[in-house]
Amino acid sequence: MQDVKTMICDNLSVSSRGHLLFGGHDTVELIRQYGSPLYVMDEEKIRRNARIYVDSMKQYFGNGSHPLFASKAASFKQIYRIIGQEGMGTDVVSAGEIYTAKAAGFDMSLAYFHGNNKTDADIAYAMENGVGCIVADNAEELEAIERLAGERGIRQKILLRLTPGIDPHTYEAVATGKVDSKFGAAIETGAAEELTLLALSKSNLDLWGFHCHVGSQVFDSEVYLAASEIMLSFVAKMQKDHGLVTRELNLGGGYGVRYTEADPVINIAENIALVAAELKKTAARLGIALPCILMEPGRSIVADAGLTLYTVGSVKEIKGYKNYVSVDGGMPDNPRYALYGSAYTVEIANKMDESKEFVCSVVGRCCECGDILQENVKLTSTVTRGDILAVLTTGAYNYSMASNYNRIPRLPIIMVTKDSSYVAVKRETFEDLIKNEI
Ligand code: LLP
Repeated sequence: MQDVKTMICDNLSVSSRGHLLFGGHDTVELIRQYGSPLYVMDEEKIRRNARIYVDSMKQYFGNGSHPLFASKAASFKQIYRIIGQEGMGTDVVSAGEIYTAKAAGFDMSLAYFHGNNKTDADIAYAMENGVGCIVADNAEELEAIERLAGERGIRQKILLRLTPGIDPHTYEAVATGKVDSKFGAAIETGAAEELTLLALSKSNLDLWGFHCHVGSQVFDSEVYLAASEIMLSFVAKMQKDHGLVTRELNLGGGYGVRYTEADPVINIAENIALVAAELKKTAARLGIALPCILMEPGRSIVADAGLTLYTVGSVKEIKGYKNYVSVDGGMPDNPRYALYGSAYTVEIANKMDESKEFVCSVVGRCCECGDILQENVKLTSTVTRGDILAVLTTGAYNYSMASNYNRIPRLPIIMVTKDSSYVAVKRETFEDLIKNEI
């Protein structure tokens, strides 16, 4: 029997029948009730994760400092309701995310609009839907915001996205704060100061401050301390040289989560306390007041609040070569292994009490060899058609990155609560697949 204490997240346990429990719910029963495959999310866990940020940011940075949920990690109506109720703002990166948040009744004044290439239509859409702040990326965008704000007779609150030039020691695709990143303006090259002066010269732009995002799945707290130091020094320089008093400093998202036992446990509250202490010290040294601090966690709010359940279809042993376990999902519902080689923990949810000796690749049902969920997985050697396979920690960047490749309908999201469960996102139908086709 798997020791509950060794499981990667505190909302996972094993029942006396050897079934995997998630948020106290029997995952085998969930499949029976809602069909296969399924994304399952634990509402209480999302709320707990959110509260850690809301409470510690208030405690350590003071009133006015708060987290924004980076909704690219998981964008659907119910998630905006949950994080709104917990006192988080949101980071949105497209008109589609704005539309979804608004449809959920989210307070759009708490939305920050990101992206390195917002079209005029995106910017106009954000303004018309009351998005509180636009995080401007470049000079062309500043000109467009200035013009579109002028046409509407408004003064648009903005932050400027800067790159502090830090290597966050994560994988390349998500290391976004380096000087050569496609995002923002680099402090090191002088581009950040130029962008600031341009923003200050515009009458329809209300420059509140600056933003940076060093990367994603980051465990090294030094990275945040270094970014804070660089950003605050820039804030002080802008104040001294150009009289700009920064009201908000947004440090982005990025704290890592445990996909496997090899990943460290990260204490978010302790990390926030560390960053706060460093920022206060630096602000005092630089002789400036500490602006309100924002953070944009995505993964660390939802990843471990989700898992995916599949049904095993076949077990193929190619003697002397490789073993395959095929499930009824794959890269359309979780492209992260195919894209980044991301590690996951995989369990046979109805056989948690059996030892694991069968080394295999867990693959999907797409017509392509790259359709792999995980390789070198150890499962019970009795694994067979009809077993329930769980991939853990899939609450972030799975549903939001899902596709209909091979015309496979997207999975539903089932939300479990303390004593019940409900459908937060319905399973796609074949009609949904062709609804835009003539
Ligand atoms: N803020 C900004 C401006 C971002 O670009 C991101 C993530 C976040 C916040 C949230 O970062 P988090 O706390 O979730 O690490 N698809 C990739 C992740 C891409 C993240 C992009 N930006 C993956 O599946 O690993």
